[in-house]
Parts: sequence; C-alpha cells; structure tokens
Amino acid sequence: MLKYIIEGGNKLNGEVKISGSKNASLPILAASILNPNPVTFYNIPDIEDVNTTLKILKILGCKVVKKCGKITISCKKINRCEIPRDLMNKSRSTVILAGAIIGRLGQVTFSNPGGCNIGKRPIDLHLNAFRKMGITVVEGKSDIKCYALTKIHGTKIKLRFPSVGATENIILASVYSNGTTCIYNAAKEPEIVDLANCLNQMGANIKGAGTSRVIIRGVNKLHSCSYTVMPDRIETGTFLCMCVATNGRLHLKNTNAKNIVSIILKLREMGAKISIKNDEIYINANNMFNSTNIVTRPYPGFPTDMQPIFASLLTKANGKSKIEETIFENRFGFCDELKKMNANIIKDGNTIEITGVKNLKPCKVTCLDLRAGAALVLACLSTNGVSEIDNVEHILRGYEKFDEKLNSINANVKLIND
Ligand code: UD1
Repeated sequence: MLKYIIEGGNKLNGEVKISGSKNASLPILAASILNPNPVTFYNIPDIEDVNTTLKILKILGCKVVKKCGKITISCKKINRCEIPRDLMNKSRSTVILAGAIIGRLGQVTFSNPGGCNIGKRPIDLHLNAFRKMGITVVEGKSDIKCYALTKIHGTKIKLRFPSVGATENIILASVYSNGTTCIYNAAKEPEIVDLANCLNQMGANIKGAGTSRVIIRGVNKLHSCSYTVMPDRIETGTFLCMCVATNGRLHLKNTNAKNIVSIILKLREMGAKISIKNDEIYINANNMFNSTNIVTRPYPGFPTDMQPIFASLLTKANGKSKIEETIFENRFGFCDELKKMNANIIKDGNTIEITGVKNLKPCKVTCLDLRAGAALVLACLSTNGVSEIDNVEHILRGYEKFDEKLNSINANVKLIND
C-alpha cells in the first residue's frame, strides 16, 4: 500500500507547471483507435489512468511508443475487440474505449464498470445511444456485447443528462457513421472540445463541441496527426486551493484560466488575489479567507471534481459554508476522514454544512477516491504536525508527480511503500 507522510504547516511558494488534462487524455487516446494511421500526442500526463488505457491499447493490438514527453500510437493492426475486465475495473473511464472500438471494428465486448465510491454511475445513456445508432447491445450478467450488423447510422440523440462520458462515446462511435449524428443536451465540458478538436485534426467532421448540440457528420477515413492535449483544469484548481489553504503564493504555468472561471470566481469571493496572464495564473492568498456556498453543476457550472477539495479548504474558512452536490449521489465519503482531523461538518442528504475551525489536528486518514485524496492532502498540508494518508494509489491515478510538484513549492510530502 502506498502512503503519504505529510509534515504540514508550510506555506506553498513558487512555480508549478500544470500537466496535461487527465479527462481529455483518456478520450483522446481512445480516439487513436479509430485511426489506422499513426498519431502523436503531446502533454499526456504520466498517471495511472493513462497507463491503464495504454495497456488496453496494446492488448487490442495497437503499437504505443512513449518518448521524451510524446506518445505515438499506431492502431493499423488492431485485432481484438474485448476490453479486459481487470483493466476496466482499474478505471471506470475506460468505458469510452467502447465507442471507439465499435466505431472502428463494428463490435466490442466490455464489462459493466459498476458503481464506485462516489455513486452508482450507470451507463444507460451510453448504451441507449448506441442502440439508437443501430448497434445491438446485449447486456449479460457481467459483460456487455455490442455489435453493428450494418454500418452505424447517423441519428438524433437527446441525452436525459449532459453526461461527459456518454457524449464522448457517441462522438467516438459516430465518426465513421453513415450520415449525420446530432447530440442534444450534450455535455459542454472543455475536454469534449479538446476531443473534437483532436478528431477534426485527424479529418473527422464534428461541429458544436462545447455547446449543448454537437453534430458529427460521418467521414470515410482519418489521417495522421499530432495533437497537444489541453492543461488539466482540476489540477490547476487543486493547486490554487492548496495555496489558499496554506496562506501561500503560487505561479501556475501552462494552464488555461478560461476553463476554470467558476473556480477563480469562488476563490476571489473567498478573498484570494488572483491575476491571469496568457497561460499563467498568479495567486496570493490572504491570511483569513471567507466561507462560501457551492452548488455543483455541469460545465460551465462549478465542477463536482473540485467539490471535495473546496470542502476541505472551507473547514478552515471564516464562518459557515454550505455545499450541495448535484452530480454524484455519494460524494461526501471523505467528510468522515476530515472529521477525524477535527473538521466541523454536518451532512444532510446531498448537502453538507461546514463551520470553519481555526486549526485541524494532524491524523492518520484514508484516501477513498482520487479527488477525496487530493482533499485530504490539502487538509494535511495546512495542518501543523505530521499526518499520514494511506491508499494514495487513488491519487496517483490522476495527479502527475504530485509529491514531487508539492515538494518543489515548499511542501514536505514523502511517498512510502508500506
Ligand atoms: C466525467 C469525468 C469525471 C467528472 C464527471 C462529471 C472523465 C474521465 N471523468 O465522468 O471526472 O466527475 O465527468 O463532470 O472525464 N449518468 C447516468 N447514466 C449514464 C452516464 C451518467 O445516469 O449513462 C449519471 C452519473 O451517474 C452521474 C452523472 O450522470 O450522476 C454525471 O456522469 P458523467 O457526466 O457521465 O460522468 P463521467 O463521464 O463518468
């Protein structure tokens, strides 16, 4: 088991280079499956979720070469259409490989990703969309087989909820379709725009990404391309919050403030001084910071992935805060860990009320999922004394060189294998 030993209390200070986006890299790697020609990607983060996806690509028959910060993928000889269950269990987001595999090979078998620590996470929107596109979907007890007896056809798909994964899966499955696919109530997240930009660079015809109506006109072939993945907006938000929590001063490089407007507005409302210059963000924390209220919403609303991290920050705010989680039904598990550190949090259904306290106490806590893990790291960094976080494998799924980056800005984090 991997653990972090964190000696907290230091003010974060210095420069951080933000990595490429996890949530954009995963669908973009899936997109390479559609292309029989080599594609080269830059700025893909070196994290476990990416490694899991690359392992699956290799098992499917794709050639993957990682060299000096770039990844070249050749999927000319893709010859398998099953996503192995053990790898699928490692990261739910591998479900978006299904759309790409069926788009390329006309069939795919994968296991039901099932629920996880933050909620049930069904994939009905993905499967119903596949059915509308003329794909036969057979749901077994443990695996799901999809096959297209004729070419996938363009159709109109109205999503009940703007699901990020379902929007990506529909886009990937319809790149080579007959005719035009139109997604209504599509997710508008910047990662969808990045996926569409990358596919268009390969020769796909996708319009409207970033709006609630995405139109995909089927094309017959894709060509080679190279593409640089967008910066990670949740990693950016995480460092901004950690800076406020430790009363520090940071300069974030290689990022994009336009994608995190809701986060920046919240932090300014709480008292942080933030300035933006091209792809750089400067943040200067204020000794005291104000409480606030948050409701998570699909983009451009406040991102659910930042909710645990803000909740952790608000445990030391001046006054009472309220957070309502509207995207996932079970995303407050981390609160019990924060309470071990003396945080004052009361949970009521999908809402928590946090009363800021002056100090938390150092403690031994457990990481339940990726963002809950980042929330605990924030709490430990801002708490005087030595804390221990176990199960940090979750954090390594999504944050590149997290301990190294934190230590380079005056934190004291040791990663140990116990
Ligand atoms: C993606 C992100 C994740 C983020 C989430 C919401 C990736 C790899 N992950 O996850 O970090 O927290 O968006 O912004 O990009 N739903 C259904 N049926 C479906 C699909 C989804 O009911 O078929 C529900 C989910 O249970 C959840 C909500 O819709 O309550 C949002 O899920 P979705 O947008 O699909 O999230 P993911 O794509 O899994």
